Amino acid sequence: MYTFPKNFLWGAAASAPQTEGAANVDGKSPSTWDKWFEMEPELFFDGVGPEHTSNTYHQYKEDVANMKAMGMNSFRTSIAWTRLLPDGQTLNPKALRFYRDYFQEMIDNGVEPIVNLFHFDMPWWLMEKGGWEARESTDHFAFYAKTAFECFGDIVKKWATFNEPLVHIECGYMGDAHWPKVQDFKRAIQVAYHTLLAHAKAVKAYRNNPYNDGQISIILNLSPVYPKSQNKEDVEAARWADLLYIRSFLDCAVKGTFPAELVEILKEAHLSPETDISDHEIFRENTVDFVGCNYYQPLRVQAPQSPHRPITGPRDLFRGYDWPEKRINPHRGWEIYPQGIYDIAMRLKESYHNIPWFISENGMGVSEEERYMDAHGIIQDTYRIDFVSDHLKALHQAIEEGSPCFGYHMWTFTDCWSWLNAYKNRYGYYRLDLTNGYARTPKEISFWMADVIAHNGFD
Ligand code: BG6
Repeated sequence: MYTFPKNFLWGAAASAPQTEGAANVDGKSPSTWDKWFEMEPELFFDGVGPEHTSNTYHQYKEDVANMKAMGMNSFRTSIAWTRLLPDGQTLNPKALRFYRDYFQEMIDNGVEPIVNLFHFDMPWWLMEKGGWEARESTDHFAFYAKTAFECFGDIVKKWATFNEPLVHIECGYMGDAHWPKVQDFKRAIQVAYHTLLAHAKAVKAYRNNPYNDGQISIILNLSPVYPKSQNKEDVEAARWADLLYIRSFLDCAVKGTFPAELVEILKEAHLSPETDISDHEIFRENTVDFVGCNYYQPLRVQAPQSPHRPITGPRDLFRGYDWPEKRINPHRGWEIYPQGIYDIAMRLKESYHNIPWFISENGMGVSEEERYMDAHGIIQDTYRIDFVSDHLKALHQAIEEGSPCFGYHMWTFTDCWSWLNAYKNRYGYYRLDLTNGYARTPKEISFWMADVIAHNGFD
């Protein structure tokens, strides 16, 4: 029997832009996603954009009732900055009403809301000023955070500042899966720095707000890094990938510092971000109470083709490695490696002074899931049950060995919109029917998980 700690948080995760819909109503201003879809709808799978997504703005009561039916005791979503403060300054009363009702509905049904502030959804008005490249964005974010704490801090006691900051940095400034899709490592470093500064300023705003009796966190995608071999060069490559993708964020959020070697190598290459002398203190004094860890797959790397100093980008430090023996989710192309959850859990225990943490996302995206629908309209997602139970077993082992993990949230509750992939890959406990009034139908995993929750574990 795999039994989990008392009061373990069982739930699911989602985000405002991927679920709410109602993107252009009730005073909300456009985000980068709304604008990008307007400009290049053909880039979005099946031409489905963010205007309606899963219609949670209108159907949240149904979702909460379904959470209650499963016995879930927690759920993470985010606030849309563009809904709460459409111009960055003026509170939108309709947003205030909506989020208060939504969070209260959860609480009334025994579901604790965990509320995140930024899930890749930069307001368009701020993107026009340079987005996270502009230092002023950090103060705008701190104001937004302060507003959110004052509006909802009496009922919301667990907060997160950012979801996976690495993603908007990497996909927007070193790739083309997020706006503004530029490829410039120096700009990416500046965006990363401002994002983390905005995070620290939001933590500070939390400590200073009248409802500061809860806890605040950051949600990071912590993909443990494995070298191709134990050769010196591969091990060194893995160390750099870890410094860049994990320690830069974790050290900053948990310890209030940046790894010295990383700072040094960026300096050598004239890639250091612009900073202010007072920033050190903001970082040092505003660390988090807990960490959310999103884990989908590990990162495998090998030595770079031609190591180069000073560096011009990550490719001078490491390159990806395709492990021939890997198990894979063919739909999303991601490796399935449950052991990774154990490794990251032990790392949080050993290297980050036992900070409380939880799995804030883990899950499996599957395309054309209707193939697995039975005669009663239930998706028989045994592949997802296997995925989740394998990850829970690895997590359980780490908890037994002392890792202070207090919860497991699957991505996601009701199938939601996946950015450029729109509704291609489905992740939910509940299926969403886009052709039938956003009808929600439980999948087999929802029954399996209800049983796990009822027993606080499984055999
Ligand atoms: C996480 C994000 O990276 O993975 C979610 O926090 C995202 O926003 C999820 O939807 C699944 O990834 P994808 O790209 O398949 O939607």
